[in-house]
Amino acid sequence: MSFANKVVIVTGASSGIGAATALMFAKEGADVALVARTQAKLAAVAKNVEALGRKALAIQADLSNEADTATVIPKTIKHFGKFDVLVNNAGMASQGCLLDGKALQAYDDVMKTNVRAVIQLTSLAAPYLIQTKGNVVNISSVAELTTNKIPMLMFYAVSKAALGHFTRCAALELAPSGVRVNSVNPGPVENEFITNNQLGNADDLKESLAGYTALGYIAKDDEIGRVILFLASDKARSITGSTYVIDNGYLLK
Ligand SMILES: NC(=O)c1ccc[n+]([C@@H]2O[C@H](COP(=O)([O-])OP(=O)(O)OC[C@H]3O[C@@H](n4cnc5c(N)ncnc54)[C@H](OP(=O)(O)O)[C@@H]3O)[C@@H](O)[C@H]2O)c1
Repeated sequence: MSFANKVVIVTGASSGIGAATALMFAKEGADVALVARTQAKLAAVAKNVEALGRKALAIQADLSNEADTATVIPKTIKHFGKFDVLVNNAGMASQGCLLDGKALQAYDDVMKTNVRAVIQLTSLAAPYLIQTKGNVVNISSVAELTTNKIPMLMFYAVSKAALGHFTRCAALELAPSGVRVNSVNPGPVENEFITNNQLGNADDLKESLAGYTALGYIAKDDEIGRVILFLASDKARSITGSTYVIDNGYLLK
């Protein structure tokens, strides 16, 4: 899966799945634009990309903010002149449900980053992806496909369901222009998502989440990265509008 001479934008590249995936693209020869809020973490990932002999551009942006989000594509074009793949990976969870009075706040918070920013970025990226016959990979979740086992995260699930339908609609619109749009839908992944989103004790949750999977195992970041790279590669040239579940059988239970 060579990405030689390709440029890839990875949002949420400062940790977890995004950081691992950015390095995997670099190992396959891509230069990478790294997007997130935390400059220090971005700089560390950029250093690791450069250690592989590839170019890295760290773009500090809060994707819940429209003006910040608008800078990502122009900065990438100014630096690299083109890009071939957009990985919309940045995501967050906000807690709130119908009976706790936090429903609307949780909905607004989660939709801004998980859906609105993806729509904005994909829209700004599309003219450039048409030039390179590139593609988009959106990182959704099993929460798109089933109600959450954690009721407090209902609006996370709502946001991923919206993201899933956006993936399919975008795939349909961009197909005549030769641009593919796909979705990767992980089950539980072993990384800092739980602590970053203050969802509770990571060790306790890890144990209960492993129990929710048929294989009794929690995926690692690079296992999700492998599916992302496959969908972004020419090997997946016949795949668009698809939902790729990688969940250790979470949906079976
Ligand atoms: N971990 C799981 O179990 C799991 C399961 C299914 C799906 N997913 C999805 O996988 C994707 C990646 O999450 P992860 O598991 O790798 O967790 P993570 O380590 O918490 O990574 C989330 C990334 O998104 C960035 N981000 C969050 N809010 C942002 C904002 N407003 N602006 C810019 N960047 C922002 C974070 O960077 P900064 O904080 O530096 O901004 C970080 O790089 C998410 O879409 C998540 O919903 C995760």
